[in-house]
Amino acid sequence: MEDNLHEWCILEYCHISTFIPTSNIYFTNLSKTAESTLLDIKKLQGVNFFTNHIIDLNFAKDKICLLDPSSKNILKPEDGNEFEYFLFGGILGDDPPRDRTCELRKHGFKTRSLGNMQMTTDTAINVTKRVVEDKVAVDQIPYIDFPEIKISAQESVIMPFRYIAVPHPNQSTLQTTTDELKLNLVPLLPEGMIELLKKDGDMAFEF
Ligand SMILES: C[S@@+](CC[C@H](N)C(=O)[O-])C[C@H]1O[C@@H](n2cnc3c(N)ncnc32)[C@H](O)[C@@H]1O
Repeated sequence: MEDNLHEWCILEYCHISTFIPTSNIYFTNLSKTAESTLLDIKKLQGVNFFTNHIIDLNFAKDKICLLDPSSKNILKPEDGNEFEYFLFGGILGDDPPRDRTCELRKHGFKTRSLGNMQMTTDTAINVTKRVVEDKVAVDQIPYIDFPEIKISAQESVIMPFRYIAVPHPNQSTLQTTTDELKLNLVPLLPEGMIELLKKDGDMAFEF
């Protein structure tokens, strides 16, 4: 878990609580400061917070699957039967990626990949849920890679990640063809992310 909780992380963590029940979410290896910040966030009420490292908690290691972009094995719907816990690096993406997931890999967990494109943490968790719970294959989920987000009349920011693609929220429900739908797909971003990008601009990638 990041020591320093950037606003970006907090938006991603709150987003996770919109598709995973908070009692099923565990944050481990939190610094005391990060723990007290997160404890005050209403949307995260019910989340299990630990300052201990995952290795020091009593989870059966062979029931934990580390989501690791460099794994040779792609996550499959049947992995939902083998594993009870899915472990993600609570770290921000960088461009180019610095492979900070290695901090967890070195403990020898079994690993699965969601493909070779770097996803944001909330996206990786959402994709994992769709695969192991909703039983959808990783390559059957619609994605948008490197979306360009307009932050003012003249400026836009390219997000160097893969996101789940969803229909534009203002799209007419009368549209019927797949092609029309595709044209109106937008990346599934945490609530408040566009406003944060407008505030931070390109600075958002300089962590
Ligand atoms: C934003 S990513 C951090 C990536 C970081 N730059 C790195 O290279 O390790 C946060 C976490 O999401 C998960 N993740 C992101 N993309 C993934 C992918 N394509 N396959 C598997 N896990 C992924 C990993 O658990 C990763 O630690």
